[in-house]
Amino acid sequence: MIPSTREKEKLYRLSQQQILSAIEKETDRTAILSSVVCVLKTNLPHTFWVGFYRVDAQRGNELVVGPYQGTFGCLRIPFGRGVCGLCAEKELPVIVPDVNQFEDHIACDSRTKSEIVVPAYDRGGRLYAVLDVDSTDLDAFADEDCEGLESILAAIREKL
Ligand code: SME
Repeated sequence: MIPSTREKEKLYRLSQQQILSAIEKETDRTAILSSVVCVLKTNLPHTFWVGFYRVDAQRGNELVVGPYQGTFGCLRIPFGRGVCGLCAEKELPVIVPDVNQFEDHIACDSRTKSEIVVPAYDRGGRLYAVLDVDSTDLDAFADEDCEGLESILAAIREKL
């Protein structure tokens, strides 16, 4: 079930409040990112897979999975490959209404039908990850999802 724009806006606001109150005194990066993933996956009924692909500092232009919630996620994605790699390379949000129409989509789970991926920056303005949210519904994501996710990532940025 895909919530209405209004409902989504409410769910993202609620999620942001829950995340910020949960991580208020926390400084550990894994705990913070895990909390973001858990709250989003729990609150947003149109999500099937929610997780970060982090920039692997050692290997350079490669993303590595985690933390995430959902079915098995591919472990590594090079910059420029798939939706996540495109987002990381261009440093722009990407919404894919139908993954079967996106030629370079990396299908970790064939149930995924649409997805959104947004860049995540640390307090120094460096890209540390992309946040990947997938749905089993076609066309599940729109501007309000992008705004909701970006707002949450901006709200935790000073802790990263
Ligand atoms: N959707 C991604 C691959 C990761 S999984 O969906 C968890 C992509 O094409 O970048």
